[in-house]
Amino acid sequence: MSFAVAIDGPAASGKGTISRAVADRFDLAHLDTGLLYRAVGARMLLGIEPVEAAETLTAGMLEDGDLRTPEVAQAASKVAAIPEVRAALVDFQRSFARRVGGAVLDGRDIGTVICPEAEVKLFVTASAEVRAKRRFAELTAKGLELTPGQVLADIRERDARDAGRADAPMVAAADAVLIDTSDLSIEEAVEAACRVVAARITG
Ligand code: DC
Repeated sequence: MSFAVAIDGPAASGKGTISRAVADRFDLAHLDTGLLYRAVGARMLLGIEPVEAAETLTAGMLEDGDLRTPEVAQAASKVAAIPEVRAALVDFQRSFARRVGGAVLDGRDIGTVICPEAEVKLFVTASAEVRAKRRFAELTAKGLELTPGQVLADIRERDARDAGRADAPMVAAADAVLIDTSDLSIEEAVEAACRVVAARITG
């Protein structure tokens, strides 16, 4: 039996942490779909044409090098605006969503385009300032040198591109449950998400 949980939202909203926790708690497989776009973006930075990079993507490439850098994030957001890139990644995501045993997918268009029939849809958000603070802490902990202002500008630029593109823009599905994590701890945010999933399971 399949059971799909779609979790969308902007960068550093907490959707990744929430998705992993929900997958863990309910014993579901998890796919971070941002990694697919990051891998394509990273290959574009190496000189490969983005559509070709998407069409020839393999699972191994998701573990290639560090995909969690600001440069790769920006490249991911750019290639994600190309309809042929998105089209090349649809089948993989849809079959993952319908795998036996259930799945959690997080991204920008899971509840709207990839899996509009998902059993649970969440849209996780937070103010740009709070998200920038979190991302700044993450990146400096990794040893990257940047300023909080740069991180905020980066997040704003990516939000605008991801929400403004014509194909599969980032938007909450009409029937998604909204979780604003601006004033929530990680535990509180995870519990809020788990309550929605549990309610759907028990009917
Ligand atoms: O979730 P993330 O920050 O790792 O995603 C990186 C970029 O990939 C994001 O800025 C937009 C794009 N993306 C997308 O367009 N659709 C998805 N389902 C996931 C990510």
